[in-house]
Amino acid sequence: MILKGGRKVDFDWLLDMAAGVSWAELQSIILNPKNFISLAISTEELEVIWESHLKDQTPLQYLISKCPWRDIELEVSADALIPRQETEFLIDFALKKVTNIDFGRWADLGTGSGPIAISLAKSLPDWNGHASDISKEALEIAKRNLKSIVPNANVIFSLGDWWGPLKRWRGSFDLVLSNPPYIPSNLIEELDPVVKNHEPLIALDGGADGMNASRKIILGALDGLAKGGWLILEHHYDQSERIISFMKNIGMKDVSFEKDLSGIKRYAICRRN
Ligand SMILES: C[S@@+](CC[C@H](N)C(=O)[O-])C[C@H]1O[C@@H](n2cnc3c(N)ncnc32)[C@H](O)[C@@H]1O
Repeated sequence: MILKGGRKVDFDWLLDMAAGVSWAELQSIILNPKNFISLAISTEELEVIWESHLKDQTPLQYLISKCPWRDIELEVSADALIPRQETEFLIDFALKKVTNIDFGRWADLGTGSGPIAISLAKSLPDWNGHASDISKEALEIAKRNLKSIVPNANVIFSLGDWWGPLKRWRGSFDLVLSNPPYIPSNLIEELDPVVKNHEPLIALDGGADGMNASRKIILGALDGLAKGGWLILEHHYDQSERIISFMKNIGMKDVSFEKDLSGIKRYAICRRN
């Protein structure tokens, strides 16, 4: 098979995810080219996937319909954002905040393909969980992912605008996580074609300053959270100061930030008074 372009790192990822050839196996044939490796799919199939990727930059995750995230493998399609590595940290921050609560209620607002909701359902099996999204198609993917990964989980899926579909449980959430759309509208055009031409705009576009959704979610937390309940949000690389001030100004307590692996303030955390 001859590669006709593209990035080696992406091809290695494809080999691993679609053909079952791990990075360690790849290294072993580089060291010993006479060794054989077996592929889970044919080289012709690999070639078709790779050529579609090169033709119009379709993300490999969409072409093979899967994406690894933390310790799970999710079904993904162009109806939902491809879960990002930086979002994985939301789960670690969340679990640290609720170590002393055995039974509680969590929500994942804007669940997409469901990575946050599924990880919370796995880690907090005795809690009540809620996952919402305004995209019916994304919600269907999240439901399928939950069913296949945590079949007996106690999670209610709701279609609608942020806190809107959760009114019945207002004031009872101990933990709310969200990775909302946070890219300023005027920057969407500048995104890599692999993102801007394929991932849903509704999952990316955060309005003029990128913070429309974040503000709604934070305001809703004022009476959506239980007293002392936690809100943990991911945001764009330059929004930390504004989001932290907003949380403080509306009267949230224990407001803090966390950094991502590149040292960028990427997450905002607060509690209801
Ligand atoms: C950045 S994506 C995050 C998806 C998923 N949580 C993840 O991390 O992979 C934002 C999600 O918010 C959803 N969304 C956008 N506007 C919304 C709204 N008004 N109400 C609820 N969800 C919304 C999108 O459909 C999308 O699934």
